Amino acid sequence: MSAQRQAQNSNTAKDRIIIFDTTLRDGEQAPGCSMNLEEKLKIALMLDEMGVDVIEAGFPIASQGDWESVNEIAKILRNAVVCGLSRATKKDIEASAEALRPAKKNRIHTFISTSPLHMKYKLQMTPDAVLDAVAESVTHARGFTGDVEWSAEDGSRTEDDFLCRCVETAIKCGATTINIPDTVGYAIPAEYGRQIAMLFDRVPNIDRARVSVHCHNDLGLAVANSLAGVQAGARQVECTINGIGERAGNAALEEIVMAIRTRPDSMPYVNNIDTTMITKASRTLSTTIGFNVQPNKAIVGANAFAHESGIHQDGMLKNAKTYEIMTPESVGLTRSELVLGKHSGRHALKTKLADLGYEMGDNAFQDFFKRFKDLSDKKKQIFDDDIIALVEDEIGTLGDAIRFESLQVKAGTKGPQTASIILVVDGKKKKAKVEGKGPVDAIFKAIRKIVPHKDATLQLYQVHAITGGTDAQAEVTVRLEENGRTVNGQGTDADTLVASARAYVHALNKLMTKRGKINPQTTPMAAKDKGP
Ligand code: KIV
Ligand code: ZN
Repeated sequence: MSAQRQAQNSNTAKDRIIIFDTTLRDGEQAPGCSMNLEEKLKIALMLDEMGVDVIEAGFPIASQGDWESVNEIAKILRNAVVCGLSRATKKDIEASAEALRPAKKNRIHTFISTSPLHMKYKLQMTPDAVLDAVAESVTHARGFTGDVEWSAEDGSRTEDDFLCRCVETAIKCGATTINIPDTVGYAIPAEYGRQIAMLFDRVPNIDRARVSVHCHNDLGLAVANSLAGVQAGARQVECTINGIGERAGNAALEEIVMAIRTRPDSMPYVNNIDTTMITKASRTLSTTIGFNVQPNKAIVGANAFAHESGIHQDGMLKNAKTYEIMTPESVGLTRSELVLGKHSGRHALKTKLADLGYEMGDNAFQDFFKRFKDLSDKKKQIFDDDIIALVEDEIGTLGDAIRFESLQVKAGTKGPQTASIILVVDGKKKKAKVEGKGPVDAIFKAIRKIVPHKDATLQLYQVHAITGGTDAQAEVTVRLEENGRTVNGQGTDADTLVASARAYVHALNKLMTKRGKINPQTTPMAAKDKGP
């Protein structure tokens, strides 16, 4: 156990905040944030290692894929409680119970709307019928596990009297955690804190359950509301890495944890998170789902620890505390140092990977070493960020049915611009040479020619430089949409056009996985996509 964690755990239980991560459920529900099974397993293991107490692994009834990922995550987690979401129906609860069966520690999370608006229009149920459903669902869930969480969906817009009746009933029927979501991100901190305090004042059996907060960020108040709830007595916070989630997202785990750590004077609470894993967790998730956090994002944005103005730099040199309220090291950010180059060998690269927290099997390492050598031919100075981007790119494409092999492009003012590309599709090499309105257009058309996907449209094409300098690696994001399903792909390379091709292929692989989810009979080369 790390020194940080030992110190944290020595405090009393009443100050202990349970960190409930819902990146794989509420986060994954957001447009463009879907993950396949391998990706979910990778994120779940990372959250477990980081010290998350409860991992909401998915919504088992939603699809066969969701059921399987909850089930596989339940088999591998060592420390965290694995949780599955269920509506207030027997079928949902039984699907969660079955998927969670292999877990060392499991939790069934069941929810129903309690606000007048949701009960009348969404559920079309009377308050009494909702109250009955609370009793039945919690009782049913308790038949499978001793750890049951009940949530009042749209709780922050629920009338006090009715909320108290629902909470008291849920606890009476065996709920051990009571969650009050601000489902639509409507609350403001004083109001939300008052609502949590009101439950402690008015619900007679409230001492038999842990109260939890779950806030969405529609007004940019998710973290502030969550912390107001904690100050009013809540001892579980539901959050996601990078704040991903429905619409404007959920409360960001890294912001909650670092706020508590940085301000113990007004928030004297402890938790089990190893904060030095925050940067890696953020980057791993960004690369997996294919979208970066904004540069000015608190804690994990590229500028979060950057000091540009002369006055600030001067202050920093005299004493870092003048402009830094937390150290970059506390979130696991190592100042980008020159690490490796053209002459570095396998041993140096392996050691560097281990320092950065990556393990690779022998075959994967051989492929990775080749990519590293290609990069070091083009780029003199290789920084930690370059290695991280490259390794995430390599890991992110393992097992893909479509793999990028090579690209030649003719570009410049004298058209036509052409792209000749080789992809490996289901183990077979396929080539295409296509003209386009510019090199990127030509590349994407060439990929479409090899793997037709006429219903998909390109929604986003974005390039960003990983480090400074004209030889910086490019990180490209491509977003594709097909029949309402959105996926993001990312690709990294010193050549922006190669990175673009990789990103498009990555997105296409994800699209195939998504299609497979809807209809397991659909193979990557669906019959409807016969040609361009
Ligand atoms: O935001 C919400 O209300 C939820 C519940 C299902 C917990 O995500
Ligand atoms: Zn939510």
